[in-house]
Amino acid sequence: MENKKLKVELGPDRSYEIIIACQNLKEFGAHLRSLQLGNSIFIITTPVINNLYGEQLTCGLKTAGFAPQDILLVEVPAGEQSKSVEQWLKLVEELYQFDQQLERQVVLLNFGGGVVGDLGGYVAASYRRGINYVQLPTTLLANVDSAVGGKVAVDFKEAKNLIGAFYQPRLVWVDLALLKSLDARQIISGLAEVIKYGVICDPELFVFVEEHYKAILALEIWALERIVVSSYAIKAQMVEADEWDNRGVRIKLNLGHTVGHAIEAAAGYAAYTHGEAVAVGMLCAAEIARGLGMLAKAELVRLEKLLVEVGLPVGVKGVSLEQIMDSLLHDKKFVRGRNRFVLPTGIGKVEIREGVSDKLIRQVIAGRLH
Ligand SMILES: NC(=O)c1ccc[n+]([C@@H]2O[C@H](COP(=O)([O-])OP(=O)(O)OC[C@H]3O[C@@H](n4cnc5c(N)ncnc54)[C@H](O)[C@@H]3O)[C@@H](O)[C@H]2O)c1
Repeated sequence: MENKKLKVELGPDRSYEIIIACQNLKEFGAHLRSLQLGNSIFIITTPVINNLYGEQLTCGLKTAGFAPQDILLVEVPAGEQSKSVEQWLKLVEELYQFDQQLERQVVLLNFGGGVVGDLGGYVAASYRRGINYVQLPTTLLANVDSAVGGKVAVDFKEAKNLIGAFYQPRLVWVDLALLKSLDARQIISGLAEVIKYGVICDPELFVFVEEHYKAILALEIWALERIVVSSYAIKAQMVEADEWDNRGVRIKLNLGHTVGHAIEAAAGYAAYTHGEAVAVGMLCAAEIARGLGMLAKAELVRLEKLLVEVGLPVGVKGVSLEQIMDSLLHDKKFVRGRNRFVLPTGIGKVEIREGVSDKLIRQVIAGRLH
């Protein structure tokens, strides 16, 4: 497959490319070098990704002319727990040590899923008031959503992404071949975000997933390419239109995330992946829309059917209604205590509604507790 290029247009200084291909990790070093983003590279990854692809990545960087002493790879433990202030500080200390050794301009490279991308992105945003960083995503979720758009953050106390920034990467480099080592659960989890784009604004993408989810789950490259290119084309457009998430465009990407984040938090970021929680969150949003007379039953049934078919959960176990309601109150999308939901009005259309009644929210969530 040829390199596919998308662009996030944010003016002369901050626009960046999204390069999508299969088995292009070997070309990454030369491309990075040509961008002249820095002369030394601080790579953040997890142990499993390092074992699988760390050498391939660092060898490619050396072949492209980066000196071995100018490359430092650090590992963070896998999992949401790494999106913490403690882990952020540890990375800043390591980056500071690395930075002190030579006359360097460090470029930070996030080699991992959404956790590494969000955490490393926040390190880049905060260190020296911002250094260049590149997203090299390795999960399906990060290949369709988290690596683009510059929302970077760590979690704090009960609240997800409470401490963060808008800080755009300088390049997003997708190698679809890296997905082959990802377990099925993570692939399915990433698919939740693709289905989300379909519900928000792309009925054709929704139909594509309905018709070809088996090919996607089997990691057939043509199918992966279609969903990654479509997803990132949508995300790029929304980020261009509403970079700071204050114009009512980007908020649509939060479909399913209000209840989804609350489920993740209530379950201690352990029982459910982000995508799984978003799947249940999307259904809750659809049921709220239905309760408000905004969505036809057939559309809700169609969404639930697809989620079940691809293997996503449509309900949650092991958390109580009160735990989820408590987590909801910490949601950033709640403005001065008033809730705000992205609600589907069909496959391909959403509306924003504020002040949904507690009664309806409770009723819908309670119906999803198994
Ligand atoms: N910034 C954004 O716009 C945005 C959008 C959506 C989600 N997110 C965030 O993304 C995070 C979830 O990201 P995720 O779903 O990618 O999970 P993740 O980053 O936790 O990765 C999942 C697991 O897969 C492993 N892994 C990653 N790549 C692999 C590969 N190629 N082969 C084998 N194993 C691999 C990781 O080590 C980890 O154990 C959440 O924190 C969520 O809040 C951010």
